[in-house]
Amino acid sequence: MATAWRRSTLCFREPWPLHHPQYCRCCYYLRLVLLIGLAFFLMEVAGVEGRVSSKGCLQRERDALLLYKAAIKDPSARLSSWRAQGDDCCAWTGVVCHNRTGSVRVAELNLGNTYHEERNLPDMALRGELLHPSLLSLSHLQSLDLSCNDFEGTQIPPLVGSLHKLRYLDLSRSNFGGIIPPHLGNLTDLRYLDLGSHDNLYFPKVGHSLDWLSGLSSLIYLDMSYLNLSDASHNWLSAVNMLPSLQQLHLQGCSINININIPLSLNFHLNLTSLTTLDLTGNIFNSSFPNWLWNLTSLSSLELWRTEIGGALPAEIGNLNSLTHLDLFGNLLSGPLPDTLWKLKHLTYLLLSYNFLGNSLPMGIMNLSSLSTLYLDNCSLTV
Ligand SMILES: *[C@@H]1O[C@H](CO)[C@@H](O)[C@H](O)[C@H]1NC(C)=O
Ligand SMILES: *[C@@H]1O[C@H](CO)[C@@H](O)[C@H](O)[C@H]1NC(C)=O
Ligand SMILES: *[C@@H]1O[C@H](CO)[C@@H](O)[C@H](O)[C@H]1NC(C)=O
Ligand SMILES: *[C@@H]1O[C@H](CO)[C@@H](O)[C@H](O)[C@H]1NC(C)=O
Ligand SMILES: *[C@@H]1O[C@H](CO)[C@@H](O)[C@H](O)[C@H]1NC(C)=O
Ligand SMILES: *[C@@H]1O[C@H](CO)[C@@H](O)[C@H](O)[C@H]1NC(C)=O
Ligand SMILES: *[C@@H]1O[C@H](CO)[C@@H](O)[C@H](O)[C@H]1NC(C)=O
Ligand SMILES: *[C@@H]1O[C@H](CO)[C@@H](O)[C@H](O)[C@H]1NC(C)=O
Repeated sequence: MATAWRRSTLCFREPWPLHHPQYCRCCYYLRLVLLIGLAFFLMEVAGVEGRVSSKGCLQRERDALLLYKAAIKDPSARLSSWRAQGDDCCAWTGVVCHNRTGSVRVAELNLGNTYHEERNLPDMALRGELLHPSLLSLSHLQSLDLSCNDFEGTQIPPLVGSLHKLRYLDLSRSNFGGIIPPHLGNLTDLRYLDLGSHDNLYFPKVGHSLDWLSGLSSLIYLDMSYLNLSDASHNWLSAVNMLPSLQQLHLQGCSINININIPLSLNFHLNLTSLTTLDLTGNIFNSSFPNWLWNLTSLSSLELWRTEIGGALPAEIGNLNSLTHLDLFGNLLSGPLPDTLWKLKHLTYLLLSYNFLGNSLPMGIMNLSSLSTLYLDNCSLTV
């Protein structure tokens, strides 16, 4: 049942503060004045390059978008507002322009298919070569959302690494296949990367190494759920450990096909001091809890459901004193639960269903004053 409601969150996107980047306003205006001067200078020199079409967007960028539209399939005509000449492309569906440097540039393409989960609506997916080279002409593109569309099993092309201004890239649930290109590691400004392949018909693979991740030194959010990591499984944790700003890591596996190697202990120091969310659901641990988990002291959310993790929950769970959300659904946990668990005063959500706790209902649970959701079904407690 828990599986059912989790699955219903398909294509739900959490609000992400990327669009409110923090910057120093004073410096910004100073730079703006300088850049406007520079822009006018360059327009004089370069002629065509800087010319803004009558209604805002650059001719060159509008042409690129029209080329993009012609290159992909849009059976439900979602892009019908993308029409030829004379239009301001900044007003087209899914296109957001910024005017930060004195010239209007396409900065965001929000083409995520939000209709995906509504099975009774016509399928609104864009299809085909969704990372078409025409996108390279959008040289100020910061945010690209192609989630829940359909790459039709084709590979993410290496050119993705040349969209070098990208801060936000969402290719989740978009049915790509093949190998993830290491060129992604060239996107050094990236804050948010979602390659989660839930519901994909294909099992896209990561090559032999995840070393390219270390290029993404500004990354805050990473989702590689349901990618076939088996060839790079040996070094996923040391690769992720090179991302000092990482706050959210989602690596849901699939208990049947795909599994990552989860070491019980580490021979290197864990850098992940900013990590607030760790989701390793559906990877088979076949062991007790790895001891490095308790070093992730910034965690507010820990999801380890259906991992066949076994044994008693160690007292070190009390180290994670920022935890608000703990999900250990469907494991092989045995009781008794440690008293340190009842000291996690921020805990609002606790799911222990489908385990083998096997002692009487611990009264310490009454001490969890923030708790608003508690599941204890089928965990062989005697009440
Ligand atoms: C873009 O910004 C510049 C400078 O602030 C301003 O002069 C111009 O009118 C703006 N263009 C549009 C289309 O908003
Ligand atoms: C991008 O990454 C690939 C693979 O990691 C590399 O071969 C290539 O040189 C990089 N390109 C640039 C422009 O940095
Ligand atoms: C920690 O991260 C830094 C880069 O941010 C890296 O240079 C260092 O090697 C990492 N430490 C380990 C043990 O991986
Ligand atoms: C994942 O990759 C491994 C190694 O290349 C392969 O043996 C396995 O069949 C793949 N799994 C799936 C589900 O495609
Ligand atoms: C975890 O923290 C302890 C104590 O602070 C430290 O000794 C240990 O090396 C850390 N382990 C890792 C994997 O970082
Ligand atoms: C789990 O671990 C046990 C012993 O450690 C081993 O015999 C068994 O094959 C493992 N199962 C899987 C699925 O890896
Ligand atoms: C309770 O959980 C066990 C394994 O965790 C499972 O085999 C059993 O079917 C569950 N019982 C019910 C009533 O769901
Ligand atoms: C619950 O809180 C009370 C009062 O603060 C304390 O005496 C008791 O030891 C706590 N119980 C557990 C199991 O933490």
